[in-house]
Amino acid sequence: METVLSGIRSTGHLHLGNYYGALKNFVKIQDSYKCFFFVADIHSLTTHPHPSDFHEGVKIILSEYLAAGLDPEKSAIYVQSDVPEICELYTLLNMISYVGELERTVSFKDKVRQQKNNVNAGLLTYPVLMASDILAHRATKVPVGKDQDQHLEIARTIARRFNTLYGVEVFPEPVNMDFGSGAIKVPGLDGNGKMGKSEGNGIFLCDDEKTISKKVMKAVTDAGPTTPNSEMPESVANLFKILSIVSDKSTVDYFKEKYNDCSIRYGDLKKQLAQDICKQTLPIKARIDDIYNDAEYLHKVVKQGADKARESAAATLALARKAIGFKAF
Ligand code: TYM
Repeated sequence: METVLSGIRSTGHLHLGNYYGALKNFVKIQDSYKCFFFVADIHSLTTHPHPSDFHEGVKIILSEYLAAGLDPEKSAIYVQSDVPEICELYTLLNMISYVGELERTVSFKDKVRQQKNNVNAGLLTYPVLMASDILAHRATKVPVGKDQDQHLEIARTIARRFNTLYGVEVFPEPVNMDFGSGAIKVPGLDGNGKMGKSEGNGIFLCDDEKTISKKVMKAVTDAGPTTPNSEMPESVANLFKILSIVSDKSTVDYFKEKYNDCSIRYGDLKKQLAQDICKQTLPIKARIDDIYNDAEYLHKVVKQGADKARESAAATLALARKAIGFKAF
């Protein structure tokens, strides 16, 4: 059975990008693959969260995972820092990762611009830790959004380099999991770029109906089309993109037609969009609080997940250590 793995950083709350980029697909495939899904709490340390917020961040993301349908009986659901084997592999893989290639990563360049006063080594080797997450379970498929493609490329490079250097076949080369429409990017509501946790342009799985409606109604648009079949500005195209993700085809076609004959009213489009987002997210929201408040259940889930993940990662690590030449005296 093929192994699938994915993870999300423990920062803030899950938004539509996280859900449609990674989580929703993962929930769908839990019966057909050996699945690992984790909270990337070590990755979130690059921004130095306050110790009093750090655990809370993990608890929130974990509760939202479970509310969205991840099933601990089917998948190993764990917290990254509960699996120290990942960090050992990270140390080993750092030795075959080159500073030059890591410096060229788009996400690193972005962070250097965004957090000039905190360009730590963890930011540079972020993709190596991500490769360690994946390769620790020898996962072959990684359902992630389009923004992670370059990181996956680095994971493949590292896997290949390790195998070649040591003349082994320890690590398979992981690829993004294709669900028919290719890797997706959910845009934000502010007219440009992707939906993100820190961009202030997102809809969260924990948002209530009123909040969702308010956010969508405030989304950036333009004054409206004046010539038939004109090209959409990015802000409007983004709303259509989100609509195509959450609504059915006939709804999208209806508003496209209205846009093309210049009769569209953005207020109607937004109302429909908010309604369809709510249809998808409110059932998830309804489950979050109960799960969040069930300390015993959360404890059981992460313990069970860590046990499964540690067993799997330890077996891989033994192969890697043997290949490198570690030997017991
Ligand atoms: P993170 O926490 O930024 O995002 C988690 C997942 O959500 C996807 N995503 C999006 N997809 C579509 N549109 C968007 N606007 C959008 N925003 C986020 C991301 O592609 C990702 O799938 N480095 C990772 C976490 C990680 C990981 C891993 C993932 C650590 N180790 C190993 C997979 C495998 C990250 O920061 O994702």
